Amino acid sequence: MALIELNGITRIYGEGETEVRALDGIDLSIERGEIIALLGPSGSGKTTLLNIIAALDEPTEGTYSFESQEVPNGNVEAMTTFRRENIGYIFQFFNLLGDLTALENVLLVQEIAGVRDKELAISQLKEVGLEGLEDRFPAQMSGGQRQRVAIARSLSKKPNIILGDELTGNLDSETSNQVMDSLIETCREGDLTTMFVTHDTSLTRFATRVINLDSGRVVSDEPGGLSTMAGQARSAAKDIAKGAKNIVESIKDVAKDIIG
Ligand SMILES: Nc1ncnc2c1ncn2[C@@H]1O[C@H](COP(=O)(O)OP(=O)(O)OP(=O)(O)O)[C@@H](O)[C@H]1O
Ligand SMILES: [Mg+2]
Repeated sequence: MALIELNGITRIYGEGETEVRALDGIDLSIERGEIIALLGPSGSGKTTLLNIIAALDEPTEGTYSFESQEVPNGNVEAMTTFRRENIGYIFQFFNLLGDLTALENVLLVQEIAGVRDKELAISQLKEVGLEGLEDRFPAQMSGGQRQRVAIARSLSKKPNIILGDELTGNLDSETSNQVMDSLIETCREGDLTTMFVTHDTSLTRFATRVINLDSGRVVSDEPGGLSTMAGQARSAAKDIAKGAKNIVESIKDVAKDIIG
């Protein structure tokens, strides 16, 4: 059973002459644990798709199911509850609250989700490499550190799916790699499903699947670098197992010779 099923998702903004088809019939099936990189030119519909998956926006047409249940549509309260329970959204510009420390920013999101757990918040900050910076305010941290607070914050409410919109868009490549490493490692450990928007094709090595959008449609859907690595690891493991079996067989033969 897929975690997410999108069928014929269309999102039209405006009407008449100003009508824009931001999404034009998206069919997607996403399994738990997938790490998806979403690429495409500016205006191709990436943010719109993320917002619909997050139930921050509603499709004009089509259906969206999460764990085989139709996601509430048109009911603001139900959409908010769905979001609270399932979605961790990392926005491009961090949107940390400046008057709160790193730890307080994480605790606030837990409180909203009804799962306050200070130990977990501290350990999540540690996981993204921010041990010792819990009491810093955003203004006292670098861009990469702030982005990692945003990741810790989105993880600390134990979401089912993490959505990131150009989460490394304004970071240098080294910091961007560190941020992606923290995110992917945490997601893999927790078997979380992730979809991240990026313009940087080199980041597809962090994904198990790479989806390209153009003019509101899926134009390609391929395995990403992680899936290739996983595939290579699997076939290497098979070779080793085969080798081990051969060795056992030859030992048996030798033993037979010795014993007679
Ligand atoms: N609120 C809105 N009202 C009208 N049109 C909108 C609105 N939001 C987005 N659009 C249009 O929908 C299309 C898709 O926008 P979207 O933000 O999803 O693109 P994107 O792929 O995220 O682009 P970028 O890479 O520049 O962030 C664009 O043509 C955009 O102009
Ligand atoms: Mg966008």
